[in-house]
Amino acid sequence: MSELPLLAKELDQADELAPLRDRFVLGTASDDAGVYLDGNSLGALPAHVPDRVADVVRRQWGELRIRSWEESGWWTAPERIGDRIAPLVGAAPGQIVVGDSTSVNVFKALVAAVRMADAGRDEILVDATTFPTDGYIAESAARLTGRTLRAVTPAEVPAALGHRTAAVLLNHVDYRTGRLHDLPALTAAVHACGALAVWDLCHSAGALPVGLDEHGVDLAVGCTYKYLNGGPGAPAYLYVRRELQDRFDSPLPGWNSHAEPFGMSPSYAPAAGAVRGRVGTPDILSLLALEAALDVWDGVSVDAVRAKSLALTDFFLRCVDEYTEPGRVECVTPGPHTERGSQIALRCPDAGEVMKRLIARGVVGDFRHPDILRFGFTPLYVSFRDAERAARILGEELA
Ligand SMILES: Cc1ncc(COP(=O)(O)O)c(C=O)c1O
Repeated sequence: MSELPLLAKELDQADELAPLRDRFVLGTASDDAGVYLDGNSLGALPAHVPDRVADVVRRQWGELRIRSWEESGWWTAPERIGDRIAPLVGAAPGQIVVGDSTSVNVFKALVAAVRMADAGRDEILVDATTFPTDGYIAESAARLTGRTLRAVTPAEVPAALGHRTAAVLLNHVDYRTGRLHDLPALTAAVHACGALAVWDLCHSAGALPVGLDEHGVDLAVGCTYKYLNGGPGAPAYLYVRRELQDRFDSPLPGWNSHAEPFGMSPSYAPAAGAVRGRVGTPDILSLLALEAALDVWDGVSVDAVRAKSLALTDFFLRCVDEYTEPGRVECVTPGPHTERGSQIALRCPDAGEVMKRLIARGVVGDFRHPDILRFGFTPLYVSFRDAERAARILGEELA
């Protein structure tokens, strides 16, 4: 008999974040409940969100109607919610605006970064291992701005930087392998060569400390439907470091980022501050669902979340090691904590089929083409018993 189920129970009992699980709509931590390890793709539903959304729809929209732009704070929601996200990514208020998708914000951030760089700098570097959308958009941004695009791995960035580099677009955590890149060191290297650093935080915000202000990141983007639990298609966010805001020249200067949006002027004059990152009318229902979802972070420290995330992924790997025959899977997530995000990616040739069987047995992770099993560990609601049970069922399905 393995000692791991008992150990998992003890770890759950000692876990200070364990009570947060009750803030979400999930099964109990008992053995019969399903195990949700896909919060790195779509975060779970915080329990209070449906009632808040119902109020937004019934009262704010249904009764107050147009008055809600003022009276329910709809107009200022993008900046207000940006300020709620700010402490989770180490940013002071006034630098984050919420709206549009991550893809759209990558476009705004990268084109604006290139426009801020010296005119003679004619090359953009993009993370060769990036989530594909960033690469597609970087290619278009390069064409639009008349720069060339070069794809290099994050490890190759320091050697690739030079007097030609205008901007560098990097992923903080690799969506496939779960590798955490060295944001402080890479940002410093980009700055040392006089270029701007743009970071995609989709797989790190809400899972580990980011330290945007501390490390002098220039621009950053991220989604809110993964570790921030904002819901399917929840709007993304854009961070523009305060000192750069006056120089932020948006490639999508819509009326919502105008200094006087209701002046209806035929000519554009950008607003000051984070508002400059807005485009058109905000997606109010999604935005306010996200605002409600962010309440689960009240009183939660990102450092505590990070500590639990590492303990969970360490424990899961230990369980996989014990329950799976040697050599059946290869872990592609780095072992050192300094290089690990909040997911474990295991390679095996029949990963697609294995994941289907896991999901049928209530263990929900996901499959990434061609051979990766991905398990996301969201410390707000994943327990050590979840990790043990998932690894045990995985071992059975791999046998
Ligand atoms: C790293 C990364 N960037 C961008 C995206 C896509 O963002 P969106 O669909 O919000 O444009 C994802 C989606 O999973 C992602 O993981």
